[in-house]
Amino acid sequence: MEVVVKSTAPERIKSDVIIVGVQEGTRIRPTNELEKTVQNSFSLGFKGEYCQTCMLNNENLRTRRILVVGLGKQSELGAERIRRSFAAAVQEIKKTKAKKVSVSVLGVNKTKDYDLIKSITEGMILANYSFSKYKTEKPPSISALEIIYSGDIAKANSVVKRTKTICDNVNFARDLCNEPGDSINPVTMVELVRKVARKSGLRMRVISDKDMKRLGLNLILSVGQGSKYPPRLIVLEYGNPSKDATVLVGKGITFDTGGVNLKPSGYIENMKSDKAGAVAVLSAMKTLAELKVKKNIIGLLPLCENMLSSSAQKPGNIVKSYSGITVEVIDTDAEGRLILADALAYAEKNYNPSELIDLATLTGSCVVTFGEYVAGMLTNNDALAKRMFEAGQRTGERVWQLPLYEDYVEEMKGDITDLKNLGYNKGRYAGAITGAAFLSKFVSKPWIHLDIAGTDWFEKPRWYVPSGATGFGVRLLVEYLTKDTI
Ligand code: BES
Ligand code: ZN
Ligand code: ZN
Repeated sequence: MEVVVKSTAPERIKSDVIIVGVQEGTRIRPTNELEKTVQNSFSLGFKGEYCQTCMLNNENLRTRRILVVGLGKQSELGAERIRRSFAAAVQEIKKTKAKKVSVSVLGVNKTKDYDLIKSITEGMILANYSFSKYKTEKPPSISALEIIYSGDIAKANSVVKRTKTICDNVNFARDLCNEPGDSINPVTMVELVRKVARKSGLRMRVISDKDMKRLGLNLILSVGQGSKYPPRLIVLEYGNPSKDATVLVGKGITFDTGGVNLKPSGYIENMKSDKAGAVAVLSAMKTLAELKVKKNIIGLLPLCENMLSSSAQKPGNIVKSYSGITVEVIDTDAEGRLILADALAYAEKNYNPSELIDLATLTGSCVVTFGEYVAGMLTNNDALAKRMFEAGQRTGERVWQLPLYEDYVEEMKGDITDLKNLGYNKGRYAGAITGAAFLSKFVSKPWIHLDIAGTDWFEKPRWYVPSGATGFGVRLLVEYLTKDTI
């Protein structure tokens, strides 16, 4: 969807539909035909309630179709409400098959102009998405959006351009994560990332299974050993990796069968999405490069297919990790923590980062705790967590901290090894926390773990998020790393 800001007068707007955002309780003394139409909507029961919509016609306007959308009460207005109400408008417009849409906002005086334009753009680009690659008949979508604004057009357009870059990359992440397991596996993912890296200016190195044997990345190897697609560890660099760098690690299980601890029907169907962490890290780095952000970032994507086969790792196997810590693999379905442990240890040993952030669809326990609404956050550094929490509040990609007390780490101690990969009571108690507790033994630097199981995949569409892959984490990471204020 192309987006531009213009200062066109209402009578001159030439689109298929004009969307008018209206706050609840707005009173207008109409000075033009567009405002007259909005006033008409009031007599049809439209009140400007949050996400309320009403389609109208005005034969006196060049663009006859008007969709008014309620933004709710001024006291409750914020970025997320703007995103969601304009997303509601997009859903209405999709029903009309309109292609070119203009947006005008009446009576909004609380939110700053550029914030408003940013949130409208986000809500509309993100809501306009559908995963239609494999559909013969493509679903309707908007192709051009024009935002009507009378202030500094150049500044507004630069805000839109930046916002569009970020949101297009969220949609890119959704596309990748929605791809099935045989289409994206560790080997094909490397080729895909190579193209992305070359185009967006990221340096890339690939650690193959052979290299892993030499280096001792044995946890990644053991998770990948059951698959015909060998594991890979992709290392991406942006900026100067040896100067005050942030390490981003993303869990890249291209399909999680559970391995020998096979997942049952009902729990396995969407496990192509177990690469959501890796995809979010890739897409966030691509965004930062495209925005030319002055930051030093290292991205690590450990990629494995967790398969069930005669060569698959067995419960009870003992593996010496890259860091030297020995691990008993009690449950082959707790594979995410194994590959992340090696990747985190690799980052600490080979770089000198100032912080590490990992994103992983790590535990079903996190889904049980937060549903699809909030990601679990665990950390060894509360100051970083505070910043991440705030980035979550601003973007609507919310995170909530869980405690990482030493007691939980104790629960991960092995009987015959240093650690085991399953928490206490057969992993049933405090699963999201014990998963993070395991990881904590592989990091010493400031670190945040985000368990995005739940937020990465929606069973049904909501607001500006489609069902299926959500692209969660891209906007959160970009916000956290750029402390975006526009
Ligand atoms: N990929 C899953 C976690 C998951 C579950 C993600 C549901 C999204 C939706 C992970 O590898 C897993 O299977 N974790 C186990 C760990 C357990 C064996 C300790 C789980 O949560 O059941
Ligand atoms: Zn698993
Ligand atoms: Zn998994």
